[in-house]
Amino acid sequence: MVEKTKRILTGDRPTGKLHLGHYVGSLQNRVKLQYDYDTFLIIADVQALTTNFEKPEKLSKNVRQVAKDYLAVGIDPDKTTIFVQSLVPEIAELTVFYSMIVTVNQLRHNPTIKSEAEQYGYNDMTYGFLGYPVSQAADITFCKADLVPVGSDQLPHVEQTRRIARKFNQLYAPVFPEPEALISDFPRLVGLDGENKMSKSLGNAIYLADNAEEVGQKIMQAKTDPARIRKDDPGHPEVCTVYEYHKAFNTEEAADIEEMCCAGTIGCVACKKNLAAKINKLLKPTRQKRQKYEENEQLLDEILLAGTKKARDIAQDTMAEVREAMQLDYFSV
Ligand code: TRP
Ligand code: SF4
Repeated sequence: MVEKTKRILTGDRPTGKLHLGHYVGSLQNRVKLQYDYDTFLIIADVQALTTNFEKPEKLSKNVRQVAKDYLAVGIDPDKTTIFVQSLVPEIAELTVFYSMIVTVNQLRHNPTIKSEAEQYGYNDMTYGFLGYPVSQAADITFCKADLVPVGSDQLPHVEQTRRIARKFNQLYAPVFPEPEALISDFPRLVGLDGENKMSKSLGNAIYLADNAEEVGQKIMQAKTDPARIRKDDPGHPEVCTVYEYHKAFNTEEAADIEEMCCAGTIGCVACKKNLAAKINKLLKPTRQKRQKYEENEQLLDEILLAGTKKARDIAQDTMAEVREAMQLDYFSV
């Protein structure tokens, strides 16, 4: 018997350009996975509205930006279906049905919701924010995904999804697989400030869309070991951001660099130039692919529209099954 290719669904909120932290944390892995799995990538604009409802322009600008970042790093539109959440209204419909079988307490106790609510300073949060894990369950299940590659902060949402699928199947009919999380726990990449994880809002990120010069300038400003004043002062790579990046993007030389830094035989400027060259080499094919889509915006739109149409067709088939299972199929058309 031929085994069916397993399906993956994962994605991002379109709230900004993607950076090197996304690259090592998820994008690199998704590029690899697309060869073995039927992969779907959701650009979750509706979910992004839960915290950006006052500034929708931020999202409309970033939907194409995120799609371009995906394609630039090597997501292949012939292997991966990239689609826009709000253009698959069946996901919203499925969210409403699911909302009947999820309790408010389950959502209130979701640790990710709790910590995000605190982070955003919400004490009276919106219904949409509290309920976004239900919408995420619809994102994952409309296409009957088997696997969800995510960071560990998203585990409670995958658990919630499994619970919903189980309950739906028990109550109505066995429509949904219970998806499993595929945890990618590459430790979060540190930002240029050396203090926080790389993030757009902290202004400490190297973007995939940065050009070679920008990458060089940013690396020059990265936080290093403050004990190194002169070139031959012995250094402590373990406290240096640049060394962290060598470990992530220059694995072959990282051990040598550690040794030279400790011995004081390499200067920080040379060390940074070397790193910038490695990152620029890594980003070179990315820049070439990006350029292709920048010169031809129509091509990008065609990919997004085709992916969205494919997702929508699947969603409509699933909703027919859901309506039948829930006895909402009054008139067969
Ligand atoms: N919540 C995810 C994030 O903030 C984005 C997302 C939306 C997602 N729908 C999804 C991730 C479905 C995995 C599966 O990064
Ligand atoms: Fe960091 Fe390199 Fe300077 Fe050592 S030599 S402190 S690793 S930049």
